Amino acid sequence: MSATPILSIKDIVKIFRNGSEVKAIDDVSFDVNLNEFICIIGPSGCGKSTLLRIIAGLETATSGQILFQGQPKTQPTSKVTMVFQTFGLLPWKTAVENVELPMEVAGIEKAEAKARADRYLKMVGLGMFENAYPHDCSGGMRQRIGVARALALGPEVLLLDEPFSALDELTAKSLRILLLQIWGDPALPTNNFVMVTHNVEEAVMMADRIIVMSPRPGRVVGELKVPLPRPRFEHLRDPLFFDTVDKLMGMLSSNVEEQM
Ligand SMILES: Nc1ncnc2c1ncn2[C@@H]1O[C@H](COP(=O)(O)OP(=O)(O)O)[C@@H](O)[C@H]1O
Ligand SMILES: [Mg+2]
Repeated sequence: MSATPILSIKDIVKIFRNGSEVKAIDDVSFDVNLNEFICIIGPSGCGKSTLLRIIAGLETATSGQILFQGQPKTQPTSKVTMVFQTFGLLPWKTAVENVELPMEVAGIEKAEAKARADRYLKMVGLGMFENAYPHDCSGGMRQRIGVARALALGPEVLLLDEPFSALDELTAKSLRILLLQIWGDPALPTNNFVMVTHNVEEAVMMADRIIVMSPRPGRVVGELKVPLPRPRFEHLRDPLFFDTVDKLMGMLSSNVEEQM
């Protein structure tokens, strides 16, 4: 692709130093092209969450660079927002207040923030639950609030850190469908997704391209373009789906064995 990638991850290294040294990420590079749905897959502890936090600007890299639309990105920005594995909601705020908060921090005027919170809570199916508190919501509802909160900032890139791993399979399935609708909706600015998962089927179901990481320290050990047409949910019983899952499983396990 010749256009500038929306996001370039360049030679990212992350070493945690608190007494001892832990190298979490070792020279990770890849691009996210315009309108792509990227999945990052790798074993537990290989640095996936750390990498997303670095892309979001919530953590600094030891070395390397993140480029957003070709420019170095060093700060959090509402153009690149994140959905967290365990939702990250404030328990003393209602659904609508949780969605409004980052917009207030970003300096969006109160009435506009309220209007956007209403719109995005409706979009994720929670129009009736604006005044509910997180503890009154199921896990699936909490993650819907998390998605509304991230989208309300109008990001061009949505980062998702294992967004379904704390949910039961049926709830996860309905959220996967919702996210694919949002990604494919031309009326929304949010058309670039980077989703971390450790679920092979989920990656094949959702991604255009899958980045495969090694066990810690996380390195990119392979990349797989998913050859299945969309909508994917019509193709989950195709032999090509199972072949792709097998291929990805092979890429993941060959590299785990290498380490042993
Ligand atoms: N704040 C931190 N301080 C020290 N080590 C950390 C910190 N955050 C993560 N790590 C370590 O970095 C490695 C990668 O963690 P993480 O990014 O959470 O992996 P993953 O999301 O792939 O499971 C792990 O060994 C973890 O213990
Ligand atoms: Mg993680």
